[in-house]
Amino acid sequence: MREPIFAANWKMHLGPDGARDFLRTFLARVPDSTDREFWFFPSAVALEAVASRIGDRPDITVGAQNVHWEAKGAFTGELSVAMAREAGAGAALVGHSERRHVFGETVEETGRKVRSLLDGGLVPMLCVGEKIEEREAGETFAVITRQLTVLEGLPPDRLATVVIAYEPVWAIGTGKTATPRDAAEVHAAIRSWIGARGVDGGQTRILYGGSVKPENIESLMAQSEIDGVLVGGASLVVESWCDMVRARLD
Ligand code: PGA
Repeated sequence: MREPIFAANWKMHLGPDGARDFLRTFLARVPDSTDREFWFFPSAVALEAVASRIGDRPDITVGAQNVHWEAKGAFTGELSVAMAREAGAGAALVGHSERRHVFGETVEETGRKVRSLLDGGLVPMLCVGEKIEEREAGETFAVITRQLTVLEGLPPDRLATVVIAYEPVWAIGTGKTATPRDAAEVHAAIRSWIGARGVDGGQTRILYGGSVKPENIESLMAQSEIDGVLVGGASLVVESWCDMVRARLD
C-alpha cells in the first residue's frame, strides 16, 4: 500500500509569518490522517517556522526546496543538507524544473544532491519531466530516463526511499495539465524503470505535478499509478488547499 502524498511547493512565496498563518488554519482544519501524508516545501527561511508548528504530527513532513551537495564551505547563498535537517526538514526537492531550466541545474548536479540527501538522512523527491518540444518530438520517455539515471547504482534499499515527482515542464504554472491517462502512462514507465533496478517498483511513490487544482485533483488521484500530487500555485490558498488534501481516494 503506497500512502498518498499531498505536497505543497510554495516556491518563492510565504516567509515565516505567512507560513505560520497558513499552518494555523491548515492544522485547525485538517486533523491527523492515517490514509495520506501532507508535505510542505516552504522557503528556506520558513523551514523552521513550519517544522515548529507541525509538532509531532507523523502525517506531515517538511522539506527544503533545494540543497547544495557539499557539506559546507564557501558557497554563498546555498543551504547544506545538515542545515536543512537542523531547521526541521525531513526531505528536499531535487531537480525541480525551475532549478533545471531557470537556474541551469544539470543532471549531474541533481545526482550529487540525491546522494548528499540520502547520506544526510533526508528523503529526496526527485522531479522529472519533459519540455513541450520534447513531448512533441516523441522524446518524453528518453528525457525522463536520462533524468532518472542519477538513481543508477544506488543500492535497492536506498533507491526504495526516493520519491519521484513527474512534472511535465509545459504543465507547470501554465494551467495546462497532462491528462490523467497520459500522466499514468509516464508513471508506469518510471515504475518499471525502478522495478528493473532491484526495487519492488510497487513500493515507490510517484507523484504528479503541473497545474493541479481543485477541479482536476480527483481525476488525477483516481489513477492507480498516481500516488499523490506536487502542487505549486494552488497550494498557496489555504482554504482551497485544505479542500484539495481531502480529495477522495479510490
Ligand atoms: P503549479 O507548480 O502547480 O503551479 O503548476 C507545480 C510545481 O512547480 O511543483
